Amino acid sequence: GTLASTGAFAQDVKVGVVLPLTGGLAPVGKQVQAGIKIYMDKHGTSVAGKKIDLIVKDDAGVPDNSKRLAQELIVNDKVAIIGSGITPSAMAIGPLSTQGKTANVVMVSGTSGVINPNNPYMVRTSFTLGQQSGIIAEWAAKNGSKKVAIVQSDWAPGAEATAVFTEAFTKAGGQIVETIKVPLANPDFAPFLQRARDANPDTLFVFVPASQAGTFAKQFAERGLDKAGIKLIGPGDIVDDNDLPGMGDSMLGVVTAGIYSALHNSPTNKEYVAAFKKANGFRPNFISLGGYDGMHLMYEALKKTQGKTDGDALVNAMKGTKWESPRGPI
Ligand code: PHB
Repeated sequence: GTLASTGAFAQDVKVGVVLPLTGGLAPVGKQVQAGIKIYMDKHGTSVAGKKIDLIVKDDAGVPDNSKRLAQELIVNDKVAIIGSGITPSAMAIGPLSTQGKTANVVMVSGTSGVINPNNPYMVRTSFTLGQQSGIIAEWAAKNGSKKVAIVQSDWAPGAEATAVFTEAFTKAGGQIVETIKVPLANPDFAPFLQRARDANPDTLFVFVPASQAGTFAKQFAERGLDKAGIKLIGPGDIVDDNDLPGMGDSMLGVVTAGIYSALHNSPTNKEYVAAFKKANGFRPNFISLGGYDGMHLMYEALKKTQGKTDGDALVNAMKGTKWESPRGPI
């Protein structure tokens, strides 16, 4: 009787991932989900003698949904590990993984503050806007940019991109002539691009999230900004590899600092891109790696704990893990 009631799933490790699979940022969630699938296709669904039972939930990018779904996953489904998505969702889930002492792998958020001492069960396999924006600020200052206008998507990762870029660029002697915020939902970039152009910058620094790069590029070209002699720079988000083939020539000459290119020339990446395209019919972008590498981190941690799912043990096992990712060695 005991075996019948508890035995069947005793060897499973449940992993619950909360992603935006509908709504404006659905392409972001779909990239992560596809990255996870490629990982599990390649490495199997068993690790350390346990079967991985993956549960994916759609929060539509709405943090109240993320919170409710994460609560259900932790309390009812008793997931051993939770995967978090975009910044507002990851912020909503953080306190729950702390309360439940549940390992929480942040697969999308690019906002530095999401990982903080109040939420010790969170680790990140994505990136930060600060990393990318600081590097491109220094590059711009060294390569002739003096007057920069900033166009940023108006939410936490955009605020970080602007803050870090502004600090690094002004420290290097440059000037910010205008900072313009564009709403995150259904953005119309045209009026904001006109304002940026009117400020007469030599360089435009832009952050839009993955999946908005195609719309941005189209409106950039429609406004004639690609021919206005203004240099375009940004974090890697503005050359989203999934949008890039549809952008035409308007993005030629753009310079970005990012974490990934689908063209990265390594055997690991070539295999990843080929498998990903075959399985999904679209190209992997930098976002997908948070899912792929996130699964790898979970598998490696479970190997180290020999299948034990205690949150503290898992998070400790995750820290310092190194591997050859499609994006390069990390
Ligand atoms: C985020 O959720 O912080 C995020 C999402 C998509 C991006 C960048 C940041 O391209």
